Amino acid sequence: MKNIKVDFNREKEWWDAKASKEGKDLADESINRVLRWREIEKHLKGVRTILEVGAATGAFSIPLAKRGFIVTHVDFSSEMLKIAKRKAKGLKNITFIQANSTDLSKFDDRSFDLVLNMDGAVSFAGSKADQAIKESCRVTKKTLILTVSNLAELIVILTNSSLEVSNIFMKAVYAMFNEGLWHQKMFKDNGLLTRETKQEYFGALKAYSSNQLKKILEKNHMRVTRIGGLGSLANLCRIETIKKVKKNKKLFNEFVELCDKFDKEIMPDGPGTRQRAGLIAVAKPKL
Ligand SMILES: C[S@@+](CC[C@H](N)C(=O)[O-])C[C@H]1O[C@@H](n2cnc3c(N)ncnc32)[C@H](O)[C@@H]1O
Repeated sequence: MKNIKVDFNREKEWWDAKASKEGKDLADESINRVLRWREIEKHLKGVRTILEVGAATGAFSIPLAKRGFIVTHVDFSSEMLKIAKRKAKGLKNITFIQANSTDLSKFDDRSFDLVLNMDGAVSFAGSKADQAIKESCRVTKKTLILTVSNLAELIVILTNSSLEVSNIFMKAVYAMFNEGLWHQKMFKDNGLLTRETKQEYFGALKAYSSNQLKKILEKNHMRVTRIGGLGSLANLCRIETIKKVKKNKKLFNEFVELCDKFDKEIMPDGPGTRQRAGLIAVAKPKL
């Protein structure tokens, strides 16, 4: 199953269709974003060049360019790039490149001080996700920050959906447990599960546990300085709690602090947020 082919043209179309909604934050997405910003801020000292892979409409790349960093924004979706370019109009220190995260051969080894590959460009490469990680490691000079789909959360999602649509634990549930993989064409009845998400197609997915991700990073000659769930408290709290927190800036900031503490001290291997990739890793090339 590991070699199941990813149809990247289909994937691109899928992301193109999502481009206009990329900036919209649902459920606990804003908490995931703020937690990522907190981690990024810790690694900006001494950084000049930044590569963001799967940078979409520029939620991170554009503010970083506005702060003076020399930013390269990579995405394979033309629609995402179109919106990002419009938003970055007038900025001279950001370059937009259309490329697949699994092939960054346009860039030399160790060519960026900081590499961000967050929320999509690894996980949605499905069976090619390890290759996407390898490429991001290769081009990192100082620090790589990755967020990928959290296996614990994906198992919960598939287990719930499977019983909802079929009253059995479908093969897709076991494939997620055993291989961390979802591909639409993996099993005949997978279409039932995508219909449940009200989409005809759901992109290829690869999810990792902390241990699995750590091993891959180490295999790519990286030293891991942080790994674990991102925003698990937000996932475990009731959705009403999240709604309340989002309406009050003071509560929101306090909640983000609590989420960070929960991830680091209480449940380091938790499921992460419901929305957006809920497993974070920070790694540096071994000298
Ligand atoms: C959910 S968005 C995340 C955007 C941004 N990184 C963030 O965290 O806000 C995922 C982005 O990854 C891009 N993407 C997915 N698979 C990719 C691949 N194989 N190569 C390049 N970009 C990819 C999509 O086009 C989309 O713009």
